[in-house]
Amino acid sequence: MNRTETGQGPFLRQAWYAAASSDEVGAGLLARTLLNEPVLLYRLESGEPVALLDRCAHRFAPLSLGRRCGDEVVCPYHGMRYGPDGVCTQVPGQATVPARARVHRYPTLERYGLVFVWMGDPARADARHLVSIAQYGQAGWGLSRGHALFHACLDNILDNLIDPAHTTYVHPRTIGSDAGADVAVQAELEGADTLVCGRWVNDAPAVPMVQRFAPPDGPVDRWQFYRVRLPCTSWVDFGSLPAGSPHTPEAMDAAPYRVISYAFLTPQDAEHTHYFSFQLRNFAADDGAVTAEFNALYRATFDEDRVLLEAIQREERRAPGTAPTRIASDAGVARLRRMAHAWREAEQPHATAAAPHQRTPDLGG
Ligand code: FES
Ligand SMILES: [Fe+2]
Repeated sequence: MNRTETGQGPFLRQAWYAAASSDEVGAGLLARTLLNEPVLLYRLESGEPVALLDRCAHRFAPLSLGRRCGDEVVCPYHGMRYGPDGVCTQVPGQATVPARARVHRYPTLERYGLVFVWMGDPARADARHLVSIAQYGQAGWGLSRGHALFHACLDNILDNLIDPAHTTYVHPRTIGSDAGADVAVQAELEGADTLVCGRWVNDAPAVPMVQRFAPPDGPVDRWQFYRVRLPCTSWVDFGSLPAGSPHTPEAMDAAPYRVISYAFLTPQDAEHTHYFSFQLRNFAADDGAVTAEFNALYRATFDEDRVLLEAIQREERRAPGTAPTRIASDAGVARLRRMAHAWREAEQPHATAAAPHQRTPDLGG
């Protein structure tokens, strides 16, 4: 089995990765491991979030165990101070600061209630690389959100999020039903790095979530389109129309039930992945009780995926080298793995060479 199939290639770095929810990043020092690197997050007095390599240039103490002094951070070990640009401003016991006494500052971007960190070459960080969400913050759209840490690698989670066929079996209590079992799934490319895999299931009973929140008078046509934008973003567009309605974008916009569920996935390391998610719904936008129920139902739905993905990963680790048997509904999975593999090949020079901030600086005098 090659690395494309096991999902154990190096991390793709040239992307915005969700590091924390906005409300986790404040005056305190937050330590988080992202792509196997220790990252320190905090918020400047101006409100801007900062992300620094969480490793003092001197003897590698975690700066997150230190303390703040205004917008600066003081190392807990020998008191070296760093500005929010990562440059050391003071070394106790000597008059000068070595030019190379600095830690990497990661570009940050705060959007959608999340703090994103650019893990690749800072010169390539561009807000346009983050997915644009027209409905976020718009009147008429309700919002629910959650965060979990999966004991599963990113590639296996992406497999799940480009795979509408699993909903019939894994999520019959919320977003799946038997009616979808025999409907084929189509996979198509949208732009350079987004794969969409979806289907319409027509003239069928509404699934439990639709029955609960927008009960129809009769059978419905429902759509489910699973999109993954490499390397770390997923959104599932799900909705339901009275059976026989036209399947046009206008009709979908005005559907009695439409939910777009976003997931921002950030590897902690090769075994664990942060799963930041939110759902936008086109009904009961300001109803707190519906939001609370959505939070609970989506947490339960993602837990159904998590239990399976964690079991799969345990088995993959127990029996490495066993190749999966592909079936027709894997069209999206197989194509996404090939796309990720091509991206990895293109990034290889960045992924394998030690990044400048991973080298030990010469502290000199
Ligand atoms: S390890 Fe930070 S000052 Fe010594
Ligand atoms: Fe799922």
